[in-house]
Amino acid sequence: MINASTGLISLIGHPVEHSLSPQMHNYIYNHMGLNYVYMAFDVQPVDVGESIKGFKALKVKGFNVTVPHKEAVMPFLDHIDPMAELVGAVNTVVSRDGMLIGYNTDGVGFMRSLEYRGVDVKNKKALILGAGGACKAVAAALAMRGVQRITIANRTLQKAEAVAASINHHIAAIAYAISLDDIMQLERPDILVNTTPLGMWPYTDGCPIPDGYDLSGIELVYDLIYNPEQTLLMKKAVDSGCQAMNGLDMLIWQAIEAIRIWFDVDVPYGLAMQALKRGE
Ligand code: ATR
Repeated sequence: MINASTGLISLIGHPVEHSLSPQMHNYIYNHMGLNYVYMAFDVQPVDVGESIKGFKALKVKGFNVTVPHKEAVMPFLDHIDPMAELVGAVNTVVSRDGMLIGYNTDGVGFMRSLEYRGVDVKNKKALILGAGGACKAVAAALAMRGVQRITIANRTLQKAEAVAASINHHIAAIAYAISLDDIMQLERPDILVNTTPLGMWPYTDGCPIPDGYDLSGIELVYDLIYNPEQTLLMKKAVDSGCQAMNGLDMLIWQAIEAIRIWFDVDVPYGLAMQALKRGE
């Protein structure tokens, strides 16, 4: 029940109406006895600074940040966690003693989802398709966890080169960029991650790999898309004998990580999954 002690956690983005975070967080808070509500706010880019000042004045405990504000919020925060610095984007902010600290839980969420499935990335070769924000978080997490090599394949080669350069700036010579058209020539990776929207509903016939690309021998094919729950890429992966994952786990683990940052509590995976599927 909402009362005078109820605290606020919020989300800013533009747009936010399709976000699954409010249903997921409110369900978890109810079930864990956290006297908080989670509200989404559609904030125009010009209003990002003002909204953060407002949160500070209201002593809001924390907030999530989504597209397109993940980079724009950074100058308004008092401290940035090293992982968020490496990714170059913040998706979770906590207020501690009046100071706003920015984190990025996307990369941590990605890694925890792998750990939960028993996948060890150390000394493995990873291929990431796409070079947007999700790619940066995945690449940073893989680099920090000791992969041997990360190849970023993207339609626009320059964007892949820019992400590779920013990773290499922190961890020398680990990341390489190629054009998406050239992945047939690449040595087979151990882990393949799709961060492009190819295959996402309603364009479920889309697939980021060309016909004839042989997936067999790849240990894990991880598609960050979660709608549909099995993309064409994942189906091809399963048919080739690979382990396949969709983006639901990353969504869940980044929320679990955000809640740990805000409240210092560990949300059971099963509860978070229930929140996502049945949230009310
Ligand atoms: P996010 O920030 O959520 O990761 P994004 O910035 O929209 O999403 O990035 C999506 C990635 O998918 C981009 O790298 C994009 O390639 P470009 O850099 O060339 O734009 C890639 N992408 C999107 N649509 C694509 C398509 N039809 N074919 C190939 N790549 C595509």
